[in-house]
Amino acid sequence: MATDTQADRINEEKLSELVETSLVDLGATVHAALAVIGDELGLYVALDDAGPLTSAELAETTDTVERYVREWLRSQAAGGYVTYDPETDRYSLTPEQAHILANEESPVFMPGAFQLVGSVAKISPELKEAFRTGDGIGWHEHDDDVFHGTERFFGPSYGAFLLDWIAALDGIDAKLKAGGKIVDVGCGHGAPTIRMAEAYPNSTVVGIDYHEESIEVARKRAETAGVSDRVTFEVATAREYSGTDYELVTMFNCYHDMGDPVGVADHVRETIGEDGSWMIVEPYADDRVENNLTPFGRLGYSISTLACTPNSLSQDVGYGLGAQAGEDQTREVVTEGGFTRFRRAAETPTSLVFEAKP
Ligand SMILES: C[S@@+](CC[C@H](N)C(=O)[O-])C[C@H]1O[C@@H](n2cnc3c(N)ncnc32)[C@H](O)[C@@H]1O
Repeated sequence: MATDTQADRINEEKLSELVETSLVDLGATVHAALAVIGDELGLYVALDDAGPLTSAELAETTDTVERYVREWLRSQAAGGYVTYDPETDRYSLTPEQAHILANEESPVFMPGAFQLVGSVAKISPELKEAFRTGDGIGWHEHDDDVFHGTERFFGPSYGAFLLDWIAALDGIDAKLKAGGKIVDVGCGHGAPTIRMAEAYPNSTVVGIDYHEESIEVARKRAETAGVSDRVTFEVATAREYSGTDYELVTMFNCYHDMGDPVGVADHVRETIGEDGSWMIVEPYADDRVENNLTPFGRLGYSISTLACTPNSLSQDVGYGLGAQAGEDQTREVVTEGGFTRFRRAAETPTSLVFEAKP
């Protein structure tokens, strides 16, 4: 009697699909490193400024070596990130390719994201150990490129959407225009903090983060932006930052990172004004796991496994909300922390914006 082996049960069509998926992923994995090189050596920007170019012309413009540039260009073209013209042997960027690769102000600028994903994976040896022990890994334990990549990845989307999000909150825009107090919790390098200081010159903004190095960078960024008169940065945790009667408390892509989101909500309630708003911006996610099994959900769960969840587990309580928590779970912790009103105020394809009020 024949045995039912694994090979007998394989559906060849499904197997081919999975091999194809793996090939795409393998190419994408090496692409991340090469995209960072292209970004840092100015290859994308030069191609946008001066293309169509041969590999020799691009190498000359960027003071790099043609043989490397030629191989890089071909891998970029194979991935659909650069356009190749076989007639002229020249490479160029379409307006869409330039928009995501060479325009640092674009809300969909990707090199920062590649910088983030390439560097966050460097924590793998420690993370493998953490899978066995359950220990956490703090945000501060990551490579510097994680902090810079995060700033460059999220920064342009704050530039594009932040003011619309504030406009969607209950009367906050008018209060800030007249002059109010904002605290941006978990501010990192301060991209959204500085954006708010620029938009509301009559208001004062405090950025707080537990990570000292990020706060030092944020202070420099504020000086460069010329807003140091109205924005200050302090090293503090989300459960212990100072001040009271804030019109607006903000958390951008960091609430799920907190070890004690209920304790944080409790502290926000103590520091927020009577009619203040707490704006929580989180990565887009549905409440049901099966609805997050998408390309964006995959990215969210993966970064969550590498950075967000380990950070939460490294802190007191170790709640581990995760970066794909969705609206219901977020509401649960916020209301457990004492807020009575919670709603989705706005959204983009990649962000959920919640408003909580005391
Ligand atoms: C993904 S980054 C987001 C940074 C910034 N909000 C942005 O959007 O550019 C998460 C930030 O949360 C900070 N963080 C994590 N746990 C914290 C805590 N308990 N208190 C204060 N900051 C915390 C980290 O240091 C890091 O800067």
